[in-house]
Amino acid sequence: MRDFPLVILFSGNGSNMQNLYEQLHHKEFMGLRLCVCAVLCNNENAYGITRAKALGARCLIISHHHKTRHEFETQLLQALKPFAPKLCILAGFMRILSPHFLQHYPAINIHPSLLPLFKGAHALKESFESNMKIAGVSVHWVSVELDSGAIIDQAAFHREETPTFESFEQKIHALEYELYPRAVLQALQQSFLKADME
Ligand code: GAR
Repeated sequence: MRDFPLVILFSGNGSNMQNLYEQLHHKEFMGLRLCVCAVLCNNENAYGITRAKALGARCLIISHHHKTRHEFETQLLQALKPFAPKLCILAGFMRILSPHFLQHYPAINIHPSLLPLFKGAHALKESFESNMKIAGVSVHWVSVELDSGAIIDQAAFHREETPTFESFEQKIHALEYELYPRAVLQALQQSFLKADME
């Protein structure tokens, strides 16, 4: 069976990276064997690196410090090239990717709000502090505009279930762990279907 190479990019805690690795690595899907051939982190102090080691994942560390976006992305591209990933999965990867990177690899991202609401780095806090009755998470294709690519899937819950910020955050993470692996498969199916039609 043919391997289908994926990479996961993260910046911090890495809990979504771990969950995706556990759910998707070596899973059979549409006649292919999904293979998380590497995970990549831009922060050498990230706890996710410890998680990656425990999983036995190939972990690449490329710091963005003291580099322009172009230099950083050139290094990412060089590091990923040997793996020839078909898809980059962003899991708490807190750097913006420009067309310089995105022209080489399609990417998807998870965001802790019901997009298009609460784009950007403070989504969790802004969503918690809003007067909305529902909150949730979104998985979307990465486009050049921040948190604005086509939505692949979303999940929502009633705010009244989570009165404190801690319970709200926990609920968001629980939804992410459920949604993201499923949404990756949806994204693959969408892109296979698209490729078939071309
Ligand atoms: C997740 O909640 C993810 O949705 C968010 O970062 C967290 C990473 O947690 N991503 C963004 O805010 C992207 N704009 P993790 O490192 O434990 O997976």
